[in-house]
Amino acid sequence: MAPLPKAELHLHIEGTLEPELAFALAARNRVQLPWADTEELRKAYLFSDLQSFLDLYYGLMTVLRTADDFAELADAYLARAAAQGVRHAEIFFDPQAHTGRGIAFGTVVEGLARALDHSEERHGISTRLIMCFLRDLPAESARETLEAAKPYLNRITGVGLDSAEVGHPPSKFAEVYEAAAALGLRKVAHAGEEGPPAYIREALDVLGVERIDHGLRAVEDPELVARLVRDRVPLTLCPLSNVRLRAIDLLEDHPLRSMLEAGLLVTVNSDDPAYFGGYVGDTFHAVHEALGLAPEQLRELARNSFLASFLDDDEERRARYLAEVEAYDFGSSDSVDAVDSARP
Ligand code: ADE
Ligand code: ZN
Repeated sequence: MAPLPKAELHLHIEGTLEPELAFALAARNRVQLPWADTEELRKAYLFSDLQSFLDLYYGLMTVLRTADDFAELADAYLARAAAQGVRHAEIFFDPQAHTGRGIAFGTVVEGLARALDHSEERHGISTRLIMCFLRDLPAESARETLEAAKPYLNRITGVGLDSAEVGHPPSKFAEVYEAAAALGLRKVAHAGEEGPPAYIREALDVLGVERIDHGLRAVEDPELVARLVRDRVPLTLCPLSNVRLRAIDLLEDHPLRSMLEAGLLVTVNSDDPAYFGGYVGDTFHAVHEALGLAPEQLRELARNSFLASFLDDDEERRARYLAEVEAYDFGSSDSVDAVDSARP
């Protein structure tokens, strides 16, 4: 049966680089990888924390060199996402991870944009692009990146903040976020993935973000939770990522269900699906099984994904997607098969 319609709001395009495509691009671009083959590479996907993942993630993305490479990467993601019910995707990219190794900002955006331009007709997915600043690099580098983005602002909806969180609080980027807002860009930031609840407060109070990416550690601070509920601040949770990066031991321990029941505007996303064991439909399927979410709670997650999306410039489309969510029929059985498990 057709998968539940949903938006994906927390997805790093470089995190969709599957081993097969990585090796194909390595051969095409004559990049020598330190793994013999895809099997050996997959064996390295045993992470102890965020940094251990980031080391591999930045290493593997060196195979991405040309606009064609970025277009192929994005098109492959969109095909997989479509098969799992994604109707709208707000896609992160990490420009500094490419400009830092000599790939022009324009090469990255032009390649991604080429795939995104065909996304609606080819995959039935509307898209937005969000450029993330790497928080473990100096704020000056983020400022330079915003400068480099200026010719491409018609393609970029917003700015985000990612990479190694602890020791790099949101306030480090106050100035560049202010400059981004002045350019009309929307604002999000990763906070509370490994960092403390105070980073979530800073992202809201100092950067003025509209959504928090992850926000997992908000649950440690009841006052913060009350504020997030009251202000309807979306949290883009990534449950499979939290387990793989050891923020949480088992998916069964994930606070997603209690966060939903506390009235938080949470969404479910895949983060870096090539590395964390599943795309967003797989993630819905996994949390349904592990946390025993009822079909109506899955519908709430899907509804939230569109409510939290940056479709403010196309309310008609948002209303159409929301109507699809409300009309979705889980069928007579609430078995997991009826929920979401489509694989491309
Ligand atoms: N970059 C890609 N995935 C990330 C994550 N889960 N946290 C921070 N930065 C990232
Ligand atoms: Zn992320």
